[in-house]
Amino acid sequence: MTLSLIDTLLTRRQRLASLINFPAILWSGNSSPRNFPANVYRFRASSHFLYFAGLSLPNAVIRLEAGKLELFIDDPKPSSALWHGVTPTRDEIAVQIGASAAYPMSELASRVDGAATIAVQDAATWTAQTQLLDRMVLPQLPAQGIDLELAKAVIQLRLIHDEGALVELRSAAAVSVKAHTAGIKAVTTAKTEASVRAAMESVIIAHNCQTSYNSIVTVHGEVLHNEEYHHPIGAGDLLLADVGAESAGWAGDITRTFPVSGKFSSTQLDIYNVVLAAHDACIAAMHPGVEYADIHLLACKTIAEGLVDLGILRGKPEDLVEKDVHAVFFPHGIGHLLGLDVHDMEDLGDLAGYEEGRERSARFGLGYLRLSRPLRPGMLVTIEPGFYQVPAILNAVRSQYQYLIDWERLEQFADVRGIRIEDDVLVTQTGADVLTKALPATPPEIEELVGAG
Ligand code: GLY
Ligand code: MN
Ligand code: MN
Repeated sequence: MTLSLIDTLLTRRQRLASLINFPAILWSGNSSPRNFPANVYRFRASSHFLYFAGLSLPNAVIRLEAGKLELFIDDPKPSSALWHGVTPTRDEIAVQIGASAAYPMSELASRVDGAATIAVQDAATWTAQTQLLDRMVLPQLPAQGIDLELAKAVIQLRLIHDEGALVELRSAAAVSVKAHTAGIKAVTTAKTEASVRAAMESVIIAHNCQTSYNSIVTVHGEVLHNEEYHHPIGAGDLLLADVGAESAGWAGDITRTFPVSGKFSSTQLDIYNVVLAAHDACIAAMHPGVEYADIHLLACKTIAEGLVDLGILRGKPEDLVEKDVHAVFFPHGIGHLLGLDVHDMEDLGDLAGYEEGRERSARFGLGYLRLSRPLRPGMLVTIEPGFYQVPAILNAVRSQYQYLIDWERLEQFADVRGIRIEDDVLVTQTGADVLTKALPATPPEIEELVGAG
């Protein structure tokens, strides 16, 4: 660990100490076994732990108080060297992460009094949290009391990225860009979604990174979180790839949609340009003080305008957005916070995404908006407008929107199932910096990149 990362960690611990006057205990979590205890799903520490500890240590706990960190972790068993090689001792790890003291796990029970915590996702760990703190700690329970105060303090810190975070976020963005470049180039020779996914993830793996969420690489982009990769890809298809790398725990999150043949059809190009117009307008509007919900509404309006121009929607764009008609084709929010988690801090429900006193709207066009705060310098968000023809939605609204949607005209766009364009955008003092801008998004550039493969 470099000295500067230690400095980053010490500063984060001091900042937390300035926000709360009680100890915080954070668990890293356990690896979950697949079929027997030694064969486990890949471990990744809880993000709140990672933020203050800096290392993805399994079965570890940190106690933070007055800017100091105490580490609780057991030394490796003697037999561990046979299977895992020589791994650092507790004392060595303590030096690496700048701990003020380090103890075996058995000591933790005597240090939990009056401490707040945040629930970890795996059941073994939240059960241990519940037992040690003698109160119910469950990821599904909203935080209360000092746990709520801790959650709010951590959100205040993690919402605005420090330099240490930005170094890793830029690195995650750069690897994600390379992965997409490889995937777009691979599409002309690939036979299935799986081989494009392989081209993309192999770049991430070669950088000794992992993906920050399960990749979406599909000709069925209308299934928003499609995690199947078996479909053959045909010359007339659009391939939607939503793939991100994770660097030292920090996430990238990019989507590009590209024509398998190397050439958009005229209908694909028409819709792509509508989504791109929304993407560009939203990024151009990003500025400190601007409400993210207004950025979302700008995307809705731009998409509605584009679809009216194409003859798919009928009416005034503002009225269509007011009636949520745009949401038939753009049902999700314009994006979300990005940081250690791809949907950053959503383990805390809407506590991070929604400014205090605000709640999610029940409206169809606003209900999936994950972030409703004014933008502040240092916030990293995604901008990811899309257009989808989801059969279940279209069937459900057909009679309601008999006249607002020109259904015959829509049929001419049958070769567009799903398009999304997603970039990672940092709010700066003067506007915005697109961390993923090295990856092109305009149709001629995309076509050229496919052709280069
Ligand atoms: N990769 C999931 C998302 O874009 O929200
Ligand atoms: Mn996203
Ligand atoms: Mn994404």
